[in-house]
Amino acid sequence: MRHLLSVDDLTRADVDGLMELTDSFLEVSRREIAKVPALRGKTVVSLFYEDSTRTRISFETAAKRLSADTMTFGVKGSSHAKGESLRDTVQTIEAMGIDALVVRHQAAGAPHRVADWVDAAVCNAGDGRHEHPTQALLDMYTLRQHLGSLEGARVAIVGDVLNSRVARSDVKALDLLGAAVTLVAPPTLLPSSLAGWPVVVHHDLDDVLPELDVVILLRIQRERQDEGLFPSLREYALRYGLTAERAERLPEHALVMHPGPMNRGVEIDPDVADGPRSTITEQVANGVAVRMAVLFSLLGSGAPVAA
Ligand code: CP
Repeated sequence: MRHLLSVDDLTRADVDGLMELTDSFLEVSRREIAKVPALRGKTVVSLFYEDSTRTRISFETAAKRLSADTMTFGVKGSSHAKGESLRDTVQTIEAMGIDALVVRHQAAGAPHRVADWVDAAVCNAGDGRHEHPTQALLDMYTLRQHLGSLEGARVAIVGDVLNSRVARSDVKALDLLGAAVTLVAPPTLLPSSLAGWPVVVHHDLDDVLPELDVVILLRIQRERQDEGLFPSLREYALRYGLTAERAERLPEHALVMHPGPMNRGVEIDPDVADGPRSTITEQVANGVAVRMAVLFSLLGSGAPVAA
């Protein structure tokens, strides 16, 4: 694997290989000294033009557990403020001698451009409304831990699909692994065309819940409220928020996921987020081992995942 820019870069065999690697790196993460020398001598740079808690720290932890050297580029305090372009920035960083760039950017396609400009491996850590492939991989890994196989699993993705890169990557990954995906949202929070999306669409969450194995809630992007895409947060929560009462409509075995950060009391109630169905903390924990698997596949010798 040369770069990881989109779930489209992966075959089902690639995903299986990454999941097997994740199993072994999860075991490493549980050791008293959670470190292996797999990427000793390699340098991994986090290049984050957008805020992040989970993804940035998770990638940096993953790189350190593989014994890579790490550098972090935060847009605040950098020469970006003096007008330095993305291309000049990445080529400047590459000149210092690096092996991988983990890129988050507000512009869809930015990591793809970066991959054209550098020899280093590039991993997309979220680009605009486009994709977030490692979030999809950690979501799939967490689901496989619970369900064994995703073949035929009934999964709903609920909320702001229009603005969600997680939704786009999750839909592709779920489809690749054989799940049946339903999008649940008001029409204003769906893309104007879903041509080519392997999904069905519903607008009533209460109708869908009893048929599900998994519900993935998306963050309502409060910054979108002024665009008139929904009347108010209260109205949204009334129709689409997963309250404890509403969650009782789910089958007993059904799981509740959220990529974070959450708006507690909007798309998910605290009782559900912290309840027994929730996999939210597991998703974060698995994210480190999944990103170890991705970095190892990009930079390790004899990488078992084919490009
Ligand atoms: N899920 C996710 O991407 O979270 P962060 O924005 O905190 O990285």
